[in-house]
Amino acid sequence: MINEIKDKEEFKKLCQKAWDKNSDVWINNRILPIKLKKFIIDFLFEKENPFILDIGCGNGWLLQELNATKSAIKFNYVGVDINHNFIDFLKGKWFDFKYDFFVADFEEKLNVIRDDSVDKAIAVLSLIEMSDLEIAFKNITDKLKNGGCCMIVVLNPYIEMIRINSNMNELKNDIASFRNGNLFFYEKKIISKELESEVNYYGLLHPIEKYFSVAKKSGLLINDFREIDAIDELGTESTIYHCIEFVKP
Ligand SMILES: C[S@@+](CC[C@H](N)C(=O)[O-])C[C@H]1O[C@@H](n2cnc3c(N)ncnc32)[C@H](O)[C@@H]1O
Repeated sequence: MINEIKDKEEFKKLCQKAWDKNSDVWINNRILPIKLKKFIIDFLFEKENPFILDIGCGNGWLLQELNATKSAIKFNYVGVDINHNFIDFLKGKWFDFKYDFFVADFEEKLNVIRDDSVDKAIAVLSLIEMSDLEIAFKNITDKLKNGGCCMIVVLNPYIEMIRINSNMNELKNDIASFRNGNLFFYEKKIISKELESEVNYYGLLHPIEKYFSVAKKSGLLINDFREIDAIDELGTESTIYHCIEFVKP
């Protein structure tokens, strides 16, 4: 069943508390479909020597992947996350002047990175925890260079509702509530291979149209949209990713 957001700050606290408990599970068990990883990495390296901003970087799987596949190519990387556990883990793991990690709330004005400096920003499943998309997209717009791009990876809300409801009537009720236009969240255990987290994580059900409209209001243009279905790699329990690319003109 989905729940309506009554208080945005309360929801943020709920997410942070959950990540305090789940960060270790995420650090040790994060799995992504290979085709999604490839799609993201191709996007990041369209141009040479990119300055990459990873929004809500979590365990830093992306930096790990970049090192594994692009070690011969120059790039700079900054990961920001609201959760200390992730940033402490990353600072302990990577010692390189080309990489930086900051604890920062992306729903507040971001001061740790210069404006107009980022070539490629990427947010993988982090905007689905942010109820204040206006500030998040203002940060993206401020930090990108002119001509810089941001890709956000979010989830198809209808598939998420199917994944949390095994009962058809409850599913119909959830979809009806969602279509009424208010902001809802769901909760779910992290499931990775045989492992299930002890506590739930939380995700927001922003309609896809909301990302387009807020980005447009912040001055970004839509560059690309791709749906990536993980069913062939991760099975029927897996989700459908929406990858939306924006450019700062
Ligand atoms: C589902 S995890 C995804 C992490 C990583 N991008 C990945 O793909 O594995 C969501 C991440 O967003 C972070 N996050 C949530 N709200 C945030 C905020 N307001 N500012 C910065 N990071 C946030 C969480 O701490 C968490 O690390």
